[in-house]
Amino acid sequence: MRYVQLDTPKPISKIGLGTWQFGSKEWGYGPDYERRAAEIVRRALDLGVTLFDTAELYGFGRSERILGSALGDDRSKVVVASKIFPLLPVAPVVQQRAVASAARLGVDGIDLYQVHQANPVVADTTTMRGMRSLQDVGLVGEVGVSNYGLRRWRFAEAALGRRVLSNQVRYSMIDRGPEEDLIPYAEQAGRIVIAYSPLAQGFLSGRYDATNPPAGAVRRANPYFLPENLERGTALIATLREVADAHDATPSQIALAYVLRHPNVVAIPGASGVEQMERNAAAAEIDLTDDEYAALVAAAHAFRPVTGVAAVPRMVRARLGR
Ligand SMILES: NC(=O)c1ccc[n+]([C@@H]2O[C@H](COP(=O)([O-])OP(=O)(O)OC[C@H]3O[C@@H](n4cnc5c(N)ncnc54)[C@H](OP(=O)(O)O)[C@@H]3O)[C@@H](O)[C@H]2O)c1
Repeated sequence: MRYVQLDTPKPISKIGLGTWQFGSKEWGYGPDYERRAAEIVRRALDLGVTLFDTAELYGFGRSERILGSALGDDRSKVVVASKIFPLLPVAPVVQQRAVASAARLGVDGIDLYQVHQANPVVADTTTMRGMRSLQDVGLVGEVGVSNYGLRRWRFAEAALGRRVLSNQVRYSMIDRGPEEDLIPYAEQAGRIVIAYSPLAQGFLSGRYDATNPPAGAVRRANPYFLPENLERGTALIATLREVADAHDATPSQIALAYVLRHPNVVAIPGASGVEQMERNAAAAEIDLTDDEYAALVAAAHAFRPVTGVAAVPRMVRARLGR
C-alpha cells in the first residue's frame, strides 16, 4: 500500500474503502452482503488500507454501524471518515449530528468529518463554527468537505480558520473536472482530493455491456449504464484492457492507477466482495508510464456519453424495457 505524503496524525492510504454500499438496499447486493461487508473491512485492514469512508446518509446510519462494528478495536488505528448530510447545518445541529455519528461508529472521535455537499442557503460560516467547536473538544480530528467547488472550499477554510483537509468529489477517467482546479489546489496547498466513484460505479471495470447492465437502483439512475453509453464505451474499455494486460492487471486497477497518479489524490472505491477489495488495494502499486497515461487520456476524451437532459428519455425507455 502507498500513503499520501502529508502531515496527518495517522497515515492516509492511497486506496481507501467507500462504504455507501453497506446497509444500502439501492445497490441491490442482498441480505448476505452485510456479512461480506465485514469481511471486506477486515481484509482491507490486512492490506494496509487506513481510510474508511462512510456517511450518516448511507443506509440511514446502517453503514456507520456496520463499519464501526467490523473495524472493532482497530477503529483507533485508522482514519474513520464520515459525513454530515447538510439539511440544516447550523452549528448546534452539526455538533449534535457528529455525536450521533460517533456513537453509531463506536468511536471517541471522528478522524475526518466532512460536509456531504454544499448547502445552497446556509453559509459555511455557521457550519464551520460547529466544526471548529467539535475539533476543540476533540470529537473531530480533521474537517473535510464534499462536492465543493474550489471557491467554496477556500471559503470554508477561511470560515474554519484552519485547513479543510479534503474535498471528496466525483473523479475518474471519465469525470475529470477535478483536474482543472481542485487537484492543482490540493497539490499547492497540501490538501487532499478524495476521489469518489473512481470506477464510475463499475462502468470502467468492463464487466458490463448493453446486453448485461448492472442491477440495482443506483446504477439504473446512472446514465453511464444506458445501453447506448455502454456501447459507446467499447473503445475506452479496450484501451483499459490493453494497458491492463501490460501490467498483468484488470481494467479497474488501471482506472484506479489513473486517478492515483496525482500525489494528493486518494480513491475510495466501493467493493461488492473481498476479491475486489484485494485488487483495488493492489492498484495502489501500479505505476503507469507517460505513454500509457496519454493513451488513457486520449481514450477518455474520445468517449462521448449521452448525459444530462438528453439522457432522461433514454433512461425512461430503458426502465420500461423498450
Ligand atoms: N460524497 C459523495 O457525494 C459520494 C457520492 C458517491 C460515492 N461516495 C463514496 O465513494 C465510494 C465509492 O463510489 P461508488 O461506490 O459510487 O463508485 P465506485 O467505487 O466507482 O464503484 C463501486 C462498484 O464498482 C464495482 N467494483 C469495485 N471494485 C471492483 C473491481 N476491482 N473490479 C470490478 N468491479 C469493481 C463494484 O460493483 P459490482 O461488483 O456490483 O459491479 C462496486 O460496488 C462510495 O462507497 C461512497 O463511500 C461519495
